[in-house]
Amino acid sequence: MMLADLEWYSDFAADPEVMRYIGTGALSYAQAQERLARYVRCWEEHDLGMFSVRLRDGDVPIGWAGLQPLNGTPEIEVGYAFAKAAWGCGFATEVASTAVRWGFEERGLDRIVAVASSENEASRRVMDKLGMRYEGVRPVYGHDSVYYSVTPAAFARAASLRAPAR
Ligand SMILES: CC(C)(COP(=O)(O)OP(=O)(O)OC[C@H]1O[C@@H](n2cnc3c(N)ncnc32)[C@H](O)[C@@H]1OP(=O)(O)O)[C@@H](O)C(=O)NCCC(=O)NCCS
Repeated sequence: MMLADLEWYSDFAADPEVMRYIGTGALSYAQAQERLARYVRCWEEHDLGMFSVRLRDGDVPIGWAGLQPLNGTPEIEVGYAFAKAAWGCGFATEVASTAVRWGFEERGLDRIVAVASSENEASRRVMDKLGMRYEGVRPVYGHDSVYYSVTPAAFARAASLRAPAR
């Protein structure tokens, strides 16, 4: 994500349903500016971060996804969020899977984690589909979160199960 993403990101992050399980919920314009600056700083400091996601023929992003250090720990987490109009189309699975593959193949990671509120069924389903293993409930981002992890081998197994039969 780039600072130039501010216009769409501030609209995106103002939606309370999209932001229900992310941080403290919907963001004001000033808060969105601050959050976006954090995403940009992540790229500068860690050489990985969140991507804005566009459809092939779309100008305005439909969401974001990518990798970032998990809240001051040595772990790297995969994160994703899409505008409501894009929910239920398989985008999160496709894009989160691309981000995880990039982490393993291009960034040399040997483990990637994901966290969510326990009631965020859609997000947990995405984690399952990526081959992530449930590790229990842990305090992250100020509240108890379900914690998942995946290795390159488990990810490859899950990807082969998702691949359409020939
Ligand atoms: C979580 C989120 C990214 C999922 O995006 P999506 O593009 O709709 O996900 P997909 O279409 O790839 O679906 C993944 C799976 O979840 C299931 N799913 C989708 N919405 C669901 C829901 N509300 N409840 C239960 N399962 C759901 C899908 O059916 C699919 O499983 P299936 O292939 O077995 O049918 C999206 O709901 C979102 O942006 N939510 C707000 C932001 C957020 O909570 N991000 C995660 C923070 S941890």
